[in-house]
Amino acid sequence: MMFPYIPLAGSFAQLAKNAEKKKPLISVTKEAVKNPPLKIYMLGQETLRTPANRIVKVDDSIRKLAKDMLVTMYSAKGIGLAAPQVGVQKRILVIDLNFEDPDAPPNVFINPEIISSSASLDTYEEGCLSIPGVYLNVLRPSSIKLSYRDEMGRPKKMNAEGLMARCIQHEIDHLNGILFVDKVVDQDELIKQLKENKFNENDVRKETK
Ligand code: CO
Repeated sequence: MMFPYIPLAGSFAQLAKNAEKKKPLISVTKEAVKNPPLKIYMLGQETLRTPANRIVKVDDSIRKLAKDMLVTMYSAKGIGLAAPQVGVQKRILVIDLNFEDPDAPPNVFINPEIISSSASLDTYEEGCLSIPGVYLNVLRPSSIKLSYRDEMGRPKKMNAEGLMARCIQHEIDHLNGILFVDKVVDQDELIKQLKENKFNENDVRKETK
């Protein structure tokens, strides 16, 4: 997921050495790299529409994937990334709302499932690393409760609200082949922005609920 108006801080490296004491399982420097390990697929490519498979075992290969996804996400100045966006049909997503704090560990969600959603809804302007340049309002539940496994494979539960709830819902949609442009109400603005950014409006799929 990508939001406008959030500049990426340039001083991660200086502060990163302070984080060396703690040795998290997935250690990533929050810096953009010239050659990110993974390629991000764009609207119109089939991988974004293919539902992802559950992860059976959380092992080193999954942790390596999470790390590569994080490096790719930081390099693209995003705050969230789901595996189908990098051509991997696995139910894993990474989020970092504290990308300016080198000590704050990013979130890794494996097999995330929304247990319940609030009745109250919020509107928020979303963007997506797979649809660069397009920013539009989407209505979603304000808060959610979810279950998932962390990078150790431990079962976890979380109550999320605000930007975290928004981001998790956007990324879980990716795992199901759904994109935020499918949920936009303002069709005129959607078509205008897609055209401006050279995307094909036929690649949007209307939600049928
Ligand atoms: Co996205």
